[in-house]
Amino acid sequence: MSTAIDQSAQPGNAHAGKIVTIERFILDEQQSYPDATGTLTSILYDIALAAKIIASKTTRAGLSDILGSAGKENVQGEVVQKLDEYADRTIFRLNDHTGRLAVMASEEHEDILPIPDHFSVGPYVLLYDPLDGSSNIDVNVSIGTIFAIYRRKTADGRGTLQDCLQRGRDLVAAGYVIYGSSTMLVYSTGHGVHGFTLDPIIGEFLLSHPDIRIPEKPKFYSVNQGYEQFWSAGVQRYTEWLQGKDKTAKPLSLRYIGSLVADFHRNLLMGGIYYYPSDTKDPEQTTGKLRLVYECAPLAFLAEQAGGMAITGTERILDLQPTTLHQRVPFFIGNAELVTKAQEMIQSFD
Ligand code: AHG
Ligand code: MN
Ligand code: MN
Repeated sequence: MSTAIDQSAQPGNAHAGKIVTIERFILDEQQSYPDATGTLTSILYDIALAAKIIASKTTRAGLSDILGSAGKENVQGEVVQKLDEYADRTIFRLNDHTGRLAVMASEEHEDILPIPDHFSVGPYVLLYDPLDGSSNIDVNVSIGTIFAIYRRKTADGRGTLQDCLQRGRDLVAAGYVIYGSSTMLVYSTGHGVHGFTLDPIIGEFLLSHPDIRIPEKPKFYSVNQGYEQFWSAGVQRYTEWLQGKDKTAKPLSLRYIGSLVADFHRNLLMGGIYYYPSDTKDPEQTTGKLRLVYECAPLAFLAEQAGGMAITGTERILDLQPTTLHQRVPFFIGNAELVTKAQEMIQSFD
């Protein structure tokens, strides 16, 4: 059985033979920024801590004190909290009092999450999807957390909506946690993408996947093909191309979990494309389902750092200026060649 420690010891890996905790890695990375104050380092470390706390709950998610709808009482008469609410609260509470953030925003809340008045504010902004793929919780399928960190734009005082609505290309750091057969944290500060696996016995994230690059030869395409009839002609034709129907390319295998983090993670390591196009099935989702600031921009940042691409079909995700917190966009992400092909076919058929 290969462990996180074994993987980081592979020859060819700069960290070969070393056991590197996430804390050590983040601190080492900070050395390459002479002006760094350590604030960003501390935020990343707090996110790793939140990930461990959430992971400890997700591994017990089948137990009765967690499952059930919010507001219900368990046998002890305590109010039962749904796991997505628990994750949301955990991330907020670990970050609200540190003096590092000006404001936060979570996919679970309509409006921005101000730092409470009795705590001081700092230079950064944190946006997060506390539990992605939450419809999969009750059936024991992988779920995740996505985070995005920006520098504040406003000069002082409490952070505002303006601080939260920034282009993905201005991200300072982004990443995700996947709660799967093991828990992993994958992040980038703009110098490559690095993955850490949680050793649940010692409670540490250990470097297991340094400098992740999307493999050049893709294996998978990932889309909810049940909705094919609601897609544009260009997206339908592109899907047929991925299936090798026009004989110009070999067919790719279809893999779709329905947890964006898990689908993205698999394709990042194995090569492929994930897409959630706009469709006509739901009047609320005519511009796609996934949310720009909480899901698409941070994953686009990681994809580009790993040599891939992410677009709406026509525009680069990282160039989009969000106008609202919960804005949805069509999303194509993965191997650069496959994303470019999607763009070409969408432009010529739509
Ligand atoms: P969330 O659980 O944060 O609301 O996100 C759900 C998203 C995403 O994780 C997933 O890829 C997508 O919804 C699945 O949608 P379909 O069920 O329509 O395929
Ligand atoms: Mn989500
Ligand atoms: Mn969510």
